[in-house]
Amino acid sequence: MDTQIHPDLKSILVSQQELSKIVDDIADKINKDYKNEEIIMIVILRGSMVFSADLLRRLKMPVKLEFMQASSYGSGTSSSGFINIKRDLDADITGKNVLIIEDIIDSGNTLFRLKNVLESRNPKSCHICTLLDKPDRRVTPVDVTYVGKVIPDEFVVGYGLDYNEYYRNLPYIGVLKKEIYE
Ligand code: PRP
Repeated sequence: MDTQIHPDLKSILVSQQELSKIVDDIADKINKDYKNEEIIMIVILRGSMVFSADLLRRLKMPVKLEFMQASSYGSGTSSSGFINIKRDLDADITGKNVLIIEDIIDSGNTLFRLKNVLESRNPKSCHICTLLDKPDRRVTPVDVTYVGKVIPDEFVVGYGLDYNEYYRNLPYIGVLKKEIYE
């Protein structure tokens, strides 16, 4: 199904076909868990926008879409670590079911801090859904409800994930050749 591999990639890690199956499976679980309860889907820009767009179209309950952009500095849960919210939500999430959508969890710092920020706003529930999880890189434990695929510690791009803002448009996820980023 995949066409020719991009020349900057060493290999394809998740094919278009596998991505479609992963998104189907996550959507099934979310549809079952929330039944007809309304949710607010929070797309964490920019990487998760491709995954979110595919997931959104498979959800059956009433869904509202919100966007957030953040970057995290410092490691672990220590007070030296902090999160810079570059773009915040438009909606009030008090009493709402919130589902945070990420493309990848690496150190866990961003999601740990972002979840704390959102939980402080008193939603009815707050869960995390990530397409990819790289547990080998974890510094801060994060409670993740939906995981698409656990991957090894490789530099991956495509399907929303970037290097220097490029490769987000690839329809599959691939491993970038070392000489491109070193
Ligand atoms: C990526 C990803 C997460 C974060 C995960 O975003 O989308 O937000 O890094 O890393 P962590 O677990 O080590 O905190 P990135 O900052 O690359 O921005 P982007 O989505 O705009 O590419």
